[in-house]
Amino acid sequence: MRIDILTLFPEMFQCLLVPGIFERAIERGMVRVNTHNIRDYTHDKHHVVDDYAYGGGAGMILKPEPIFEAVESIKSDIYKEEVNSGELPVILLTPQGRPFSQQIALELSRHACLILICGRYEGVDERVRQHLVTDEVSIGDYVISGGELAAMVLVDAVVRLLPGVLGSEDSVQNDSHTTGMLEYPQYTRPAEYRGWAVPEVLLSGNHAEIVKWRREQAIWRTLERRPELLDKTELSSEEKKLVDRLKNIRLGSAIK
Ligand code: 6GU
Repeated sequence: MRIDILTLFPEMFQCLLVPGIFERAIERGMVRVNTHNIRDYTHDKHHVVDDYAYGGGAGMILKPEPIFEAVESIKSDIYKEEVNSGELPVILLTPQGRPFSQQIALELSRHACLILICGRYEGVDERVRQHLVTDEVSIGDYVISGGELAAMVLVDAVVRLLPGVLGSEDSVQNDSHTTGMLEYPQYTRPAEYRGWAVPEVLLSGNHAEIVKWRREQAIWRTLERRPELLDKTELSSEEKKLVDRLKNIRLGSAIK
């Protein structure tokens, strides 16, 4: 996968190079991340990238010309490379975008190339949205000062889904939000710490019982913390009964 990122702060993306998931993915050639400074696509002496908002108001707005020119230049480079690039998403990171999710990460991971534009909180000229961008993504209902951290969140979530990036495919399969539920509790040695024991079933060696316990714990945890997620999860009829039982227990303890 090739990811091109347009930003005013390319240095921020250095942190994708620290040892970890990306290092491995980059070394193995599974992903290439190119950053582009929007300022490099200006033609004036002072490399101006923003300007006052028509109609007034606080905050500077990113000008359309450098962003259009940067994206067009990246696109022509991608097409030259003969990457079978397919449909090429151009994604603006903005608090007005569609809420990012594991589903969107999965969707994006199937593309050969992505172009990300890091917006600024104060704004981007609307013509970029209307005539250049194919998708707008937000990472949640809060405000951060620019799209850079959001782009890194997106890149991390997408890259770790690429086949072979993680050590074992298993860890993606069981991820919270891949299953549609939160993950079950995990323990490692020691079996007892400060008098707190690891649940016995996990030490039992009974694989079937462990699978069952984990599934129940995941359901229980999801019900406690994010009950709305269960509406979208596929449950067996037995598990549905379990959810109803747990809901009744919850109701019971709430009344007490
Ligand atoms: Cl993508 N950008 C900014 N500036 N703030 C955000 C965001 C993006 N997503 C949530 N808040």
